[in-house]
Amino acid sequence: MSGNRRTLRLLGIADCAIVVVGLLTIVAGTSKPVAAEWNGLFVGTVWIVSILFAAIVGVRATLAYAASAVPASGLKRFVVDYVSSPAAAIDLVAILAVPVPAIAGIDIDTARLFGLLWVFKFARYSRGLGLLGRVIRNAAEPLLSVLLGFVTVLIAAATGMYLLESGNQPNQFGSISQALWWAIATLTTTGYGDVVPLTFMGRVLAGSVMICGIGMFALWAGVLATGFADELRRREFLQTWDLVAKVPFFRNVGAPAIAAVARLLKHREMARGQIVMRRGQPGETMYFVVSGEVEVDLASGPVRLGHDKFFGEMALVTGERRGATVTAVAHCVLLELDVADFRQLGSTHPELLKVIAEEADRRRQLP
Ligand code: CMP
Repeated sequence: MSGNRRTLRLLGIADCAIVVVGLLTIVAGTSKPVAAEWNGLFVGTVWIVSILFAAIVGVRATLAYAASAVPASGLKRFVVDYVSSPAAAIDLVAILAVPVPAIAGIDIDTARLFGLLWVFKFARYSRGLGLLGRVIRNAAEPLLSVLLGFVTVLIAAATGMYLLESGNQPNQFGSISQALWWAIATLTTTGYGDVVPLTFMGRVLAGSVMICGIGMFALWAGVLATGFADELRRREFLQTWDLVAKVPFFRNVGAPAIAAVARLLKHREMARGQIVMRRGQPGETMYFVVSGEVEVDLASGPVRLGHDKFFGEMALVTGERRGATVTAVAHCVLLELDVADFRQLGSTHPELLKVIAEEADRRRQLP
């Protein structure tokens, strides 16, 4: 990680820590006994937090200025990129959330409650939230269908209850709108129990609505879970595709075949010093080096393999145990192919398997 990236990472961590301190201060300030003793400190902290948010934006701009070969253009690029990003809006809201209402004359005890908007700062750093957004966008149609089903059952339940219970309980079920409260509490499986049906048919209907409620949420959860799984698979595929395209070994197989190969390969990262495989272990996987370097510990001396080289193929070709220990000597990005996919690759792209088998033969014959 470059020094600049590390500083930016630390800045992000500091930013989140400041948000946590700020939010705790605001929450604690709403407790009368605590505020009676510490209010001065809380108010001061809220102001300091706002100033620190502004300072962090300043440090980011300074870093962009210092990191560029042409400082003025580095700063200009930062301003253009930053101003057009959602992060800028979040930072601005965070900086101004408390000062603007306070300067507008709202008393500080109320003004500082606007600081709760700082919670959006977490969204600035969360990749998971972006993922959730994509999942909801992609699954919008099935989610809407479930929502429509939910609303339909809700209205039907409220209408049924109105017809069955309004005679006995005019205060609770005297209109469909009144019965809707019961329907929402029941369909969402909350079940406050403040309003309950008394007639036999009312209870039968209530039971059906409860079961429908469970079904609706199961459907909803199913749609979201499938959406997440699809999105993660798609991301992984794109990432692997990108890596496969970088390995010259696969360059000649053509775009459609790269897509097929990318489906078989898994992206793996190894830290410096990490042992990828040990001599004598059974071999289930082979690896292609995208970046970084590994060292093969051979009896004749260590051999280093870097970009575009592969290893771990001998155990797959011969079915024997690992012939050597392989260690990452730098941070490595690897593509992993397991034994079943190795055979599949052999049937769809025999030319690739031939090159791998020839290299395994060559290595075996080396002293
Ligand atoms: P495998 O035996 O499965 O596990 C150890 C790996 O080290 C082996 O596959 C090869 O990929 C690799 N290897 C063995 N001998 C050599 C060599 N002479 N040069 C480069 N790599 C080798």
